[in-house]
Amino acid sequence: MLTVKLKDFAKEHKEMLENCLRASIERLNAPSIIKESMLYSLEAGGKRIRPLLLFATLHALGHDSKKGLNTAAAIEMIHTYSLIHDDLPSMDNDDFRRGKPTNHKVFGEAFAVLAGDALLTYSFQMISETPEEYAAADTKLNLIRELSKAAGAEGMVGGQAADIEGEGKQLDLSQLEYIHHHKTGKLLAYSVLAGAMLAGANDEQMKDLSQFAFHLGLAFQIRDDILDLEGQEELIGKPVGSDANNQKSTYPSLLSMEGAKEALTDHIGKAKAYLKSSSLSTSLLVEITELVAARDH
Ligand code: IPE
Ligand code: IPE
Ligand code: MG
Ligand code: MG
Ligand code: MG
Repeated sequence: MLTVKLKDFAKEHKEMLENCLRASIERLNAPSIIKESMLYSLEAGGKRIRPLLLFATLHALGHDSKKGLNTAAAIEMIHTYSLIHDDLPSMDNDDFRRGKPTNHKVFGEAFAVLAGDALLTYSFQMISETPEEYAAADTKLNLIRELSKAAGAEGMVGGQAADIEGEGKQLDLSQLEYIHHHKTGKLLAYSVLAGAMLAGANDEQMKDLSQFAFHLGLAFQIRDDILDLEGQEELIGKPVGSDANNQKSTYPSLLSMEGAKEALTDHIGKAKAYLKSSSLSTSLLVEITELVAARDH
């Protein structure tokens, strides 16, 4: 297989994803205010790392990206909904996201909540509407079930609940790992697993890819904690110091900045080791992993 560079791969796939997202919202038969609110946050310009992980996993298993387009869009919708709700005054109370005023600052809290609800619900419809030639009915059902688990009370929502409950408290590392794995790790890991499910990966490949995704998910949130202290607002597109303002426990607050960076390096090393042991064509996944370790936004 020809070596594909992440830069070219990302450009092409972001374009495909963003066209799909825009068209999906435009065709909704719904009040224009809700469509505007959904599109505002979807088009604010995220990194699209979860869709890229899905596409890169399909690539590693030798499958066409088109198979994963609806699921990739579904994941980005759930992720965007989680950000809209995360920024609400009743949660992290942040005014900037993806370099723009947060959704509730523009549309008000009611439409921000509703835009989140609509994106969440639409994600399941998106997967169910994957063309039959790309995924059989049982695959779609499995994709929907696993996404519900990754995003719901056993996944992202559970992590967010523990994160809010933990404000102002001294948590230990295992409690913090629970939060990070659930609020961020599970949806990120789902992106890899969904690619593997769509490609019909075998048990052995699934095992290596899920271990890889577990460590990548934790690394991603540890880097997010670090950027909340060391990042530049113009680059991260959201407020620096939000965690301290909300008295959150983070990897740097528990382990010191040096300890957090060591934990990051450790999880990145483990993630790469599982990729290697999978003996798949993982050059793109390796590049994404390195990006997660060093990202400045
Ligand atoms: C931010 O996610 C929230 C976390 C789960 C850490 P991203 O860093 O992927 O945000 P965007 O999509 O690029 O804006
Ligand atoms: C949020 O974690 C994870 C989500 C499920 C949205 P953070 O609260 O640290 O994310 P940011 O820093 O606001 O993007
Ligand atoms: Mg939060
Ligand atoms: Mg936040
Ligand atoms: Mg953060």
